[in-house]
Amino acid sequence: MLLVPGSINADLLFRVRRLPRPGETVLCPSHEFAPGGKGANQAAAAARAGATVEFVGQVGEDAYGPVMRRCLEQAGVGCARVAVSRRATGLAVIGIDEAGENSIIVASGANLDTNAGQIEPGLLGPGVTLLCQNEIRSEETFAALARGRAEGGRTILNLAPAAAVPAEVLDCLDVLLVNEHEAAVLAGEGEPEALARALARRHGLTCVVTLGSAGALAVAPGGGLRVPCLKVEVVDTTGAGDAFAGVLAGALDMGLPMEEALRHAAVAAGITCEGLGAQTAQPDAAAIRARLPALGPCVSL
Ligand code: RIB
Ligand code: NA
Repeated sequence: MLLVPGSINADLLFRVRRLPRPGETVLCPSHEFAPGGKGANQAAAAARAGATVEFVGQVGEDAYGPVMRRCLEQAGVGCARVAVSRRATGLAVIGIDEAGENSIIVASGANLDTNAGQIEPGLLGPGVTLLCQNEIRSEETFAALARGRAEGGRTILNLAPAAAVPAEVLDCLDVLLVNEHEAAVLAGEGEPEALARALARRHGLTCVVTLGSAGALAVAPGGGLRVPCLKVEVVDTTGAGDAFAGVLAGALDMGLPMEEALRHAAVAAGITCEGLGAQTAQPDAAAIRARLPALGPCVSL
């Protein structure tokens, strides 16, 4: 089972010719509304890909809360551990430019109340994979990861958005998943492969670095892989990193070897760039399978 404690947001999507600079106003004809939040997106991606997934989070008592929860349930995610907060449901304003690149502002709201205490003691044993991000309070994420390690489960952290993390938290991880910027925040400036090697060795984990259109690389203390990316017509990159994280974690939880799990994750991330929104663009297991042959081979590092 994959357990995902994390954020759940309502996303407001604005497709603009280009993103506004400070002090600037840009116009677009209309907006779209879609389910989001890095935690919820990752949980939904894993469930669509066939994993058994439970989400832990909080929504508001407002109109958005029940809608966002229902979207997750419709993706096949268990929502018994979704509580109702007195704060507003998390809300993200997302600008998307013509190249499909985005910039995002999140009002965390109810996500600030999500806590490790919502995970009952003893749940995180062997056979459970814990997948965390960085959109709820970091002390709650760190507490969940420490418990995951202590109780014998698999622990994965996608450090998005970027932040410093204490060494003893990194020591609790089986897999650290970051983009280039997030890797630099943890390990300083440098080549992604060198940063991944340093983090893998220092903390005894597998470090996966996503590189956008250059694919991804995965480095464990014993060796590494370069993973290609799927060739796609980019509409909106929103949620691509979440699809990668969710599908990777779900595939590992289902027992796939790391290389296979990475290939499924890369295909899911690519497909998610082909549609507007995060959860609204995610593939199911059949769609991932159908595109796997189009992904180039992995190369050993
Ligand atoms: O990673 C994309 C997500 O970031 C969006 O769904 C938005 O809600 C923010 O959390
Ligand atoms: Na998308």
